[in-house]
Amino acid sequence: MSIMFPLAADAAMREYYNQRASEYDEWYLREGVFARRGDAERWHAEVAQLRERVQQFGQGRLLEIASGTGWWTQHLAQHAHVTVLDYAPAMLAQLGARLDALGLHAIRVRGDAYALPFAATCFDCAFFGFWLSHVPHTRRLEFLHEVRRVLHPGSEVMIIDSAPTTPDQVLGAEFLHERVLNDGSRHQVLKIVHTPDSLAQALARLGEVTKCWSTGRYFSVAIVKIS
Ligand SMILES: C[S@@+](CC[C@H](N)C(=O)[O-])C[C@H]1O[C@@H](n2cnc3c(N)ncnc32)[C@H](O)[C@@H]1O
Repeated sequence: MSIMFPLAADAAMREYYNQRASEYDEWYLREGVFARRGDAERWHAEVAQLRERVQQFGQGRLLEIASGTGWWTQHLAQHAHVTVLDYAPAMLAQLGARLDALGLHAIRVRGDAYALPFAATCFDCAFFGFWLSHVPHTRRLEFLHEVRRVLHPGSEVMIIDSAPTTPDQVLGAEFLHERVLNDGSRHQVLKIVHTPDSLAQALARLGEVTKCWSTGRYFSVAIVKIS
């Protein structure tokens, strides 16, 4: 099922993430509005699983798309030459502060994931976390085309994203998710959740999905080799 996703909603999501930047990591840490969610032990164990796998991914020139606060960049930048792209200036500022504190480096670019401001085949690998789930069906091919364009055949892409955790989240379908920030403001964000299989299906246009797996309950992961 495809819901109407006007450009205004796209802009609203970009603004929502810019506002959320300073409290974004509370989601990973189960703090702030996320503190009251149960199952914290399993959540933290699955985040740790992701971290271990991200630490092993990528070498050479790595592009991270929709990088947010750099929660994953801090691991990628340990062994690759990372360029990050995000639309929200506040996210890029958080990311810069995080990497500076760790003595790490990444080229930071403010831009749109649907129109990557990079030359063809200029990266060796790519990573995006919790971004594909915000790409509406009507724009998925446009986005994947951009990812393919900036990579060369044989490059690997690692994707991590949210798995369905409640009965109202229909696999692979778009739904509007209400988000509340610490200041009480409410925002509607388009979201699509994936099992490893539906993630693999969604990414098929990129190339060969060489691995896809679940961390247990919360996350789906895939590695794709660009064809
Ligand atoms: C769910 S967050 C994911 C952040 C990070 N990848 C992570 O895994 O923690 C989504 C990110 O997408 C960014 N974003 C939203 N629309 C975008 C667009 N059109 N182009 C680039 N980044 C965008 C937001 O600013 C936000 O940082």
